[in-house]
Amino acid sequence: MPIKILHVVGARPNFVKVAPILAAMQARGNAFQQALVHTGQHYDDQMSRIFFDDLKMPPEDEYLGVGSGTHAEQTAGVMLAFEPVLLKYRPDWVMVVGDVNSTLACALVCAKLGVRVAHVEAGLRSWDRGMPEEINRLLTDQICDLLFTPSQDADANLLREGIDGGKIHFVGNVMIDTLVKLLPRAQAQPILEELKLEKRGYMLVTLHRPANVDHPQTLGQIISALETIARELPVIFPVHPRTRKNMQAFDLQAEGVRFLEPLGYLDFLALTYSAGLVLTDSGGIQEETTYLGVPCLTVRPTTERPVTVELGTNRLVASQGEAILEAVRTILRGQGQQGTCPPLWDGKAAERIVEVMLAQGSMEH
Ligand code: UD1
Repeated sequence: MPIKILHVVGARPNFVKVAPILAAMQARGNAFQQALVHTGQHYDDQMSRIFFDDLKMPPEDEYLGVGSGTHAEQTAGVMLAFEPVLLKYRPDWVMVVGDVNSTLACALVCAKLGVRVAHVEAGLRSWDRGMPEEINRLLTDQICDLLFTPSQDADANLLREGIDGGKIHFVGNVMIDTLVKLLPRAQAQPILEELKLEKRGYMLVTLHRPANVDHPQTLGQIISALETIARELPVIFPVHPRTRKNMQAFDLQAEGVRFLEPLGYLDFLALTYSAGLVLTDSGGIQEETTYLGVPCLTVRPTTERPVTVELGTNRLVASQGEAILEAVRTILRGQGQQGTCPPLWDGKAAERIVEVMLAQGSMEH
């Protein structure tokens, strides 16, 4: 009997995490019967479809079309739409990834219906409950039956929260699985030539956290720091829809900064790989830059991915103009943080997840 798995994706970073798990289970022939649910939390082609194409993911089996809204609307909307799908498929396991609203919503539906659920990228903590993702992480981990962690700090966090150690498996980082696999294809992308950029000769920027982009003063300070940096070095900024809407609403512009539409996975990885430095508030990009050895400045007071600072190339920086300029100049002087790759970020995390899932299946039969 195959193990029936229902995978959930909702928002942009989820696709990158699920793709290697789908492929690793697919490679085991009849051992697994998989289906994919897309909640529709992200729905623009540039936030969703392009990832299916770049990652060569099979199309989803169910699309819930939940879309945007307040946190309550979005989380409740996913729950309401996911429940009948769960009842239709009756899987042995549901797999949720990351920390977006779709992650918590689907895990909660599973817990209420007594369907076992596994969380990939469990145990990360920023200790900042003002971040919506921190609430999603804390609650998802409490109600999941299996917890796959990307780093050992995550194991320690879960144990401290009273979670049974038997549920926790340190498997490494699935996002890095995708990076390892697709780096050769990314390196063949013509985007550097198209944008007329020199290797290591530009700064790549992404910003989308509510704490950075929802307040005119904070976003204004960051954008004006970017304008100053753009006088010295090209600044490439693919803009998240949330950030674009707010820049328009607050009437913010920055001369010299090259604003682009959101990019697909391959183009963005190509730009990260060749960047002189990256300025971001994303979670995953802190990890990708650490793996690639590219200096990264994370515009946040905390990170749920401390290994990227302790072992990797990441440094936290305040969302103030002067702090950002000083940190960028330090890196441009060649005094950025050197890094090493964290343990088990080796392209084989999804394989380890598959082994654990198979062991679970054989314990039951
Ligand atoms: C969500 C996740 C965040 C993750 C990010 C990656 C939560 C709480 N947040 O943030 O953890 O880092 O995705 O991108 O789950 N929008 C569009 N088109 C889309 C999607 C969104 O225009 O395809 C706009 C809408 O105005 C929407 C806003 O972006 O209201 C925010 O989208 P939402 O999914 O609520 O959160 P993100 O900021 O994308």
